[in-house]
Amino acid sequence: MSGAKAVREDRLWQRHVDMARLGGLPGGGVNRQALSAEDAASRNLLASWAAARGFAIFTDAIGNLFVRREGSDPAAPPVMSGSHMDSQPTGGRYDGMYGVLAAFEALEALEDAGVATRRPVIAVAWTNEEGSRFQPGAMGSAVFAGQYRLEDMLQQRDWEGVVLKDALAATLKAAPAPLRDGPPGFPVGAYVEAHIEQGPRLENEARTIGVVTGIQGSRRYIVTITGEEAHAGTTPRAARKDAYAAATRIAAAMYAATTDADDMLRFTIGRVEVLPGSPNTVPGKVTFTIDMRHPEDAVLEAHEGQLAGIVGRLAAPCPAGIERVTNVAPTVFAREVVDLVRAKAAALGLSHMDMPSGAGHDAMHVAHLCPTGMIFVPCERGISHNEAENATPADLAAGARVLVEVLEDLANR
Ligand code: GLV
Ligand code: MN
Ligand code: MN
Repeated sequence: MSGAKAVREDRLWQRHVDMARLGGLPGGGVNRQALSAEDAASRNLLASWAAARGFAIFTDAIGNLFVRREGSDPAAPPVMSGSHMDSQPTGGRYDGMYGVLAAFEALEALEDAGVATRRPVIAVAWTNEEGSRFQPGAMGSAVFAGQYRLEDMLQQRDWEGVVLKDALAATLKAAPAPLRDGPPGFPVGAYVEAHIEQGPRLENEARTIGVVTGIQGSRRYIVTITGEEAHAGTTPRAARKDAYAAATRIAAAMYAATTDADDMLRFTIGRVEVLPGSPNTVPGKVTFTIDMRHPEDAVLEAHEGQLAGIVGRLAAPCPAGIERVTNVAPTVFAREVVDLVRAKAAALGLSHMDMPSGAGHDAMHVAHLCPTGMIFVPCERGISHNEAENATPADLAAGARVLVEVLEDLANR
């Protein structure tokens, strides 16, 4: 039997249902943010499935969780596949989780089909891909690939001031796994990540498999505006240093400056904090986040300059600054992996199309280490980062079939 034939749609679907209970929300989505109790629960569930199949698990200093199926040459750099189990605060069931469960399904399918591979095959759940609680996102894979420093990441704080190091320790206590000694990262033969598309193209074009060619560049910023707290009933407008009024001027100018004719530039203000947050006190401090993306780094660079200029011009009378917190250049996936994904989809008789990714993924960091690619499957109306996110069992299984065939091929090279 081939690995693809051994993929079980019902098993893969049930695993999504089981995982969706952890941090499950009334609207059908999940709140399973990085290094929360719900994240720990998902780690334990994955570990229990691994144990039932006799696969070894291990973790590293940033909490990435690895499930290993042995190869006939255990010393050969493994082939890896995975994604993330953390979610947005009101996230869907498939963003990230699908990539982990598809990778685990691939391991199980290889096992059920009795397929031996030369290289080990590892399913991985990367720590904190979403970056909604702790910044920056795609942290575990970035540390693994040497893109971010472990020591810096351990000091990051969430919006409540919890230090990542402490949240990680609590998570690993609640979801223990053998710790691989030394700094994160080891040689990897190749990496392939499956993910829902998170956009509408596959559905619109009635294709089952997206052959992902690369990922657009992304940058994140925090804007901080300092005003002066004052009484809302007594302080004349002219005498105020209203941090929120400055923030609205700045934000409006930024939206205008980032509106492009071909609608390619993505600009999002996703989190605004107004302090002290009292209806009758003039705001003394505002912070807001910016997420900006484009396929061309030069466009991001040019707009970064504009954003800084806007803050400088429009904040008065409030001191203000803009700080860049991440800068991930556009990723081009390895031709050999892209071609292999396309060839395996075609061989399985699945409709497919080449496409870039608008969303960020752990694969953008792992691509620095080894030949890397991605497989997309459709999601309903392209909705993601939303509890309504949906995908069909058949499409999820189709992606897993392509994945197992790709992994088997790479693991025998
Ligand atoms: C990941 O969710 C991203 O922000 O692209
Ligand atoms: Mn994701
Ligand atoms: Mn996401």
